[in-house]
Amino acid sequence: MKKTTAILTEIVSDAFEQCGYDRTLGNVIVSDRIDLCQFQCNGAFAGAKLYRKAPIIIAKDVAAVLAENPIFSKVEAVNPAFINLTLTDEYLASICREIANDEFCGIPQVEKETTVVIDYGGPNVAKPLHIGHLRSAVIGEALKRLARSCGMKVIGDVHLGDWGMPMGLVIAELSERNPGWKCFTDEFDPAVDKVAALDVNELNEIYPYASKKSKEDESFKDKAHSITAQLQARKPGYYALWQEIIRASVEDLKKSYSKLSVDFDYWYGESDADDYIPRLLKVLDDKGLMYENDGAMIVDVAEETDKAPVPPVLIKKTDGSVLYDTTDLATIIQRQEDFKPDNIWYVVDKRQALHFEQCFRCARKASLVSDSTTLEHLGFGTMNGSDGKPYKTRDGGVMQLSMLLDTAYNAAYERINKDNFDSEKEISETAQKLAVASIKFGDLINHRSKDYVFDLDKFLSAEGKTGAYLLYMVTRICSVLRRLGIDDEGDIQLGEIYTDSERELMLAIALTGEAFGHAIAERAPNYICENAYALAVSFSKFYHENHILSEEDEQKKSAWINLCRLVKKMIIKHLDVLAIESVEKM
Ligand code: ARG
Repeated sequence: MKKTTAILTEIVSDAFEQCGYDRTLGNVIVSDRIDLCQFQCNGAFAGAKLYRKAPIIIAKDVAAVLAENPIFSKVEAVNPAFINLTLTDEYLASICREIANDEFCGIPQVEKETTVVIDYGGPNVAKPLHIGHLRSAVIGEALKRLARSCGMKVIGDVHLGDWGMPMGLVIAELSERNPGWKCFTDEFDPAVDKVAALDVNELNEIYPYASKKSKEDESFKDKAHSITAQLQARKPGYYALWQEIIRASVEDLKKSYSKLSVDFDYWYGESDADDYIPRLLKVLDDKGLMYENDGAMIVDVAEETDKAPVPPVLIKKTDGSVLYDTTDLATIIQRQEDFKPDNIWYVVDKRQALHFEQCFRCARKASLVSDSTTLEHLGFGTMNGSDGKPYKTRDGGVMQLSMLLDTAYNAAYERINKDNFDSEKEISETAQKLAVASIKFGDLINHRSKDYVFDLDKFLSAEGKTGAYLLYMVTRICSVLRRLGIDDEGDIQLGEIYTDSERELMLAIALTGEAFGHAIAERAPNYICENAYALAVSFSKFYHENHILSEEDEQKKSAWINLCRLVKKMIIKHLDVLAIESVEKM
């Protein structure tokens, strides 16, 4: 179904036309003075310039036509030239009734088939997930679900960091610790020889160790470089060991992501781009874009209008090894071939903006995707500690995701009312959901491009714009329905509007399409958070002002119960798009 402002825009555009004015002046927006009216149209201002008339005259002409329309309870042309609109309760309720029956909960669906590849998560193999990767996973998963909820076809790809120098470092360190392993010799035969099973905890310890060592020990660094190049050339022993590293690491990553309700359609990595690199090199060569410079192959991407220098893209080093730019470009070829996407979204730290600018320019120059395909870097800001610096552990180290989740779990556990539950298992499951909801909502409520301060106490608070508040509101509705013995199945039959707070709540429901419209246009899930919060606040007011449980008028009571069911469904839908699981009690 269409969003409410789109329906009203049609009606107001018709009225402009009927008065002899251009219909494009009829754009309707949500009122910013909800005390005066619900919607407004400011088209008379532009009309005044177009027709050299006093704007209020135009507003009055159009308002006179609209006043005849039975869907409005109030139409006003007010100085200087606003057209203020308020819907009748019948019409507002009819919109909500349509939303209640809509399989998409009133979320406007895209008009033409659209395929999006979304590149998010981006963890690096052999490194434990740290909070730097948390935002990509949380925002990316929400964007994926958001796009799906709007009817787009979405393919989520984790794009593992599995092919660069970190791999060489880990293998180099393993070879120093286990010099006897056959995989380090030329005799290794993958058809018969096996590599030792690796433990993920050991791997997680090795990378930081090897990385530090490479900074202090030049020869170790050279060794890692050389191993990286040989791995990329698929030397059998290194390649077999690398496969084992991937296996152990991915198994562990999947566990962490599942705790966050994040999952991927594809577990491709930078290494999967390898097959496409010869083609990339050929295209760049054929088009005369690539040339040798100081021992490396590069492509210029600077443009005259650049305000800051945009360095050339580095495609290949002298030793034959490829780089981050190369794998990203080759991956574009793979995605184009496999999915023919209309958009590719990269949910990556905004500090990588230059890298993506370089890649996208190079991809365009080489026509790796069709002109209509958009390549979008959806950059995000940093998660900071209370000191305004990137969030760290107490002793100043990098905070690992598992540690963060444990801390949040313990704090969430404390806040749960244990009397509401029959078993310890239920309590701990609820604490887990509350912890994850709080962390995720605390992140997603901020526009993705902004930095934010991680404040667990605030995120877990049952007041304010928090995940905890939203979960709490859902439990509130569940409890009302439970006490009334309502089984929450089947059609939702809304009644008429009896009270002011009920009207406000219905208006909030009717504005859901607007929120989804903004969110998808800006690729920004925070609008979904805001709308979920608006629904919860309106519900809370409605619940306080109308005594559902003790209401004697059966018709009224039934209307209210159905409204409760609709709000519950809507909030849960919003949470689901944010990949936040709700709970029935807490
Ligand atoms: N692994 C990279 C990192 O940790 C992120 C990958 C982002 N995606 C991409 N296509 N470059 O920085």
